[in-house]
Amino acid sequence: MSTKTIQVLPSILSARMGHLAADCGRAMEAGADGLHFDVMDGHFVANLTLGPDVLKALREELPKAYLHVHLMVDRPDFYAPRFIEAGADAVLVHAESPCNVASALETIRSAGKKCGAVICPETPVDAVAGLADAKLIDEVLVMTVHPGFGGQAFLESGLPKLQELRRRWPWLDLSVDGGVNTQTGARCAAAGANILGAGSFLFKADDMGKAIGEMRRAAEVACGG
Ligand code: DX5
Ligand code: ZN
Repeated sequence: MSTKTIQVLPSILSARMGHLAADCGRAMEAGADGLHFDVMDGHFVANLTLGPDVLKALREELPKAYLHVHLMVDRPDFYAPRFIEAGADAVLVHAESPCNVASALETIRSAGKKCGAVICPETPVDAVAGLADAKLIDEVLVMTVHPGFGGQAFLESGLPKLQELRRRWPWLDLSVDGGVNTQTGARCAAAGANILGAGSFLFKADDMGKAIGEMRRAAEVACGG
């Protein structure tokens, strides 16, 4: 578990794309700590989503929202600067990306943005050990589904990885993404996560404010708060 403040980040992949700014504004008004922005290039995963122009447009609509960008792309070294220029606050790069991950992370940090590494369900914690030991990252995002699509079932394999990450690098922010709801979010928080990304659960809720509040509270209770 973590003593860090719990953050809830709705994943905008589950927003209505024709009403993206309105849905994102609604999420922020409902008490979200920021927005999780999924970028897929059709290569790293078999889906295509949003580019830097969309992030720029969202930044113009929501100047103060914390924008947490999850790059599921083959070339995060190429795309990270474009998302930073467009207004990202945090950029997360998959450890499995077929490029120089450390250099992509260094670019993000040297731009003064929060940088993080992401691990897929089959990737062990050791894949980020060098980055964490060298303090080249601020955050590790543990995927609790196979990246590519919203609405998948939560995979338990993330829980022991969160425990190991929290034990080895207590200062790291630890986030989770995929199949997160009030119950699974609380289990992740008990295992060490302090940032909960959730798409379908929050955007499909009848009352997003209530859903965010319940998710946050259950996670805080799971952390002994
Ligand atoms: C999946 C994305 C997630 C996705 C989560 O590859 O990275 O952010 O939107 O959606 P849910 O919460 O519906 O699993
Ligand atoms: Zn994501």
